[in-house]
Amino acid sequence: MSNKVETVIVLDFGSQYSQLIARRIRECNVYSKILPFNTPAAKIAAEQAQGLILSGGPASVYQDNAPKCDPAIFDLNLPILGICYGQQLMINILGGKVVRGQAREYGKAILNISNSQTLFSGIEGDIQVWMSHGDKVRELPEGFTVRATTDNTEFAGIANEARNMYGIQFHPEVVHTPRGKEIISNFCHKICGCVGNWTMASFIESAVNEIRKTVGDSQVVLGLSGGVDSSVAAALINKAIGNQLTCIFVNNGMLRKGEAERVQQLFSDNFKINFRYIDAEQRFLDKLAGHADPERKRKIIGHEFVEVFDEESKTITNAAFLAQGTTYPDVIESVPIDGNPASMIKSHHNVGGLPEKMKLKLLEPLSRLFKDEVREVGAQLGLPKDVVWRQPFPGPGLAVRHIGAVTKENLDTLRDADAIVVDEIRKAGLYYEIWQTFAVFLPIRTVGVMGDERTYDNAIALRAVESSDGMTADWVKLPYEVLGNISTRIINEVQGINRVVYDITSKPPGTIEWE
Ligand code: XMP
Repeated sequence: MSNKVETVIVLDFGSQYSQLIARRIRECNVYSKILPFNTPAAKIAAEQAQGLILSGGPASVYQDNAPKCDPAIFDLNLPILGICYGQQLMINILGGKVVRGQAREYGKAILNISNSQTLFSGIEGDIQVWMSHGDKVRELPEGFTVRATTDNTEFAGIANEARNMYGIQFHPEVVHTPRGKEIISNFCHKICGCVGNWTMASFIESAVNEIRKTVGDSQVVLGLSGGVDSSVAAALINKAIGNQLTCIFVNNGMLRKGEAERVQQLFSDNFKINFRYIDAEQRFLDKLAGHADPERKRKIIGHEFVEVFDEESKTITNAAFLAQGTTYPDVIESVPIDGNPASMIKSHHNVGGLPEKMKLKLLEPLSRLFKDEVREVGAQLGLPKDVVWRQPFPGPGLAVRHIGAVTKENLDTLRDADAIVVDEIRKAGLYYEIWQTFAVFLPIRTVGVMGDERTYDNAIALRAVESSDGMTADWVKLPYEVLGNISTRIINEVQGINRVVYDITSKPPGTIEWE
């Protein structure tokens, strides 16, 4: 990527919203990068950014272990916007006064803007904002003036225009501050002077150049799962280096019905990518035989995948790079602060082990992008909506949707039931509205009647959840009619199933997958 990309850095003080701030900045066509709060000023200067935003955070500036930034960042001559804790810290360091509030202010508030220049440009009078803070500013440092207030907060918006420093007590990045995006845009464009050159078209152009430069004459291998990230990475690398890329698709026997064919058709036939289809179904089934423990099943599948992939990639001469669809949230350094949910995100979901085993250099062209940007890149590269907006599918696939030890016969039953679920959800126009929709195979036999005959067959559980990141989820209130259609079709069309139940558990306390 060329150095000319305009950047606004987010210094992360452990706010659950730090990534949201970065995404809002990027929606203003300005690249943003999240750095830990204690990044030295010299390192920040070396980034040659246009501006700096200090995020909120769960701490109080008076706490013993409060996260503090390098005070020298205020002498870098960079435009700075402090949000919530970021504002309090800035004021604290610059000689103002922050005090503990009587009560925590949390929720919606009305902000009255008294000066609509720069940061609040184009916004006048009263607007709704979102507050979440305990401490408050009591006295401003020299050179700062008040720009906005709420009933509870005298210094809800402050500015020192001469030094290009601004602070707000509320959160402009969340949806509960409907005009927050304009405030962030004002900071990026009017205060930092960015013209807005971060677009996915410009990203693709520079990524293509960079991939060519990095790869040279070597060959690149990529494990294609058919999911959004690996598919977009494949399309992007293909654009850059064409047949120097080989995609390896492993059928582990735990795939959805028709999935292998769909992926092969798209990449091999449409995109004309070097595509190797490895049918390893029997190998995985043999390894999994008799194993009922969910974590054991995951480990076996992860391990076997590495083996199969490694064997195949060794047959590619001159392979020097392993490409992966790693995205920005995978690489952001989490800030080790108590109470920072981002620092606790579990990592078991990624198929690990490949890079260590393979001794290839990593090529991760999407590692600067958020998911919505990855989708946009995919769309611009001509991937169909079906791939770009595909629902997430776990690496171990149907193995974690088949309770207990898997068998080929039961997996086939599950595949048939699952295909009906997806088909009916699509027909109802709900597929793209829902985070995940799927069937789970329950090896529990219950009694039923079909025609004049008594049946004694297995059950299918239906799962449909709404979520924005998989960390929390709500069960979806599917229309009864859709539920009815799914149930009738599964019982009529899928051999060996005589009962369908609907899972109405949210996460927490449940998880999305059953295993
Ligand atoms: P849970 O079940 O933990 O799932 O609520 C959260 C999200 O992660 C996906 N998931 C996985 N993805 N390997 C994966 O690649 C796994 O082992 C795995 N387990 C769960 C799940 O589909 C949901 O989107």
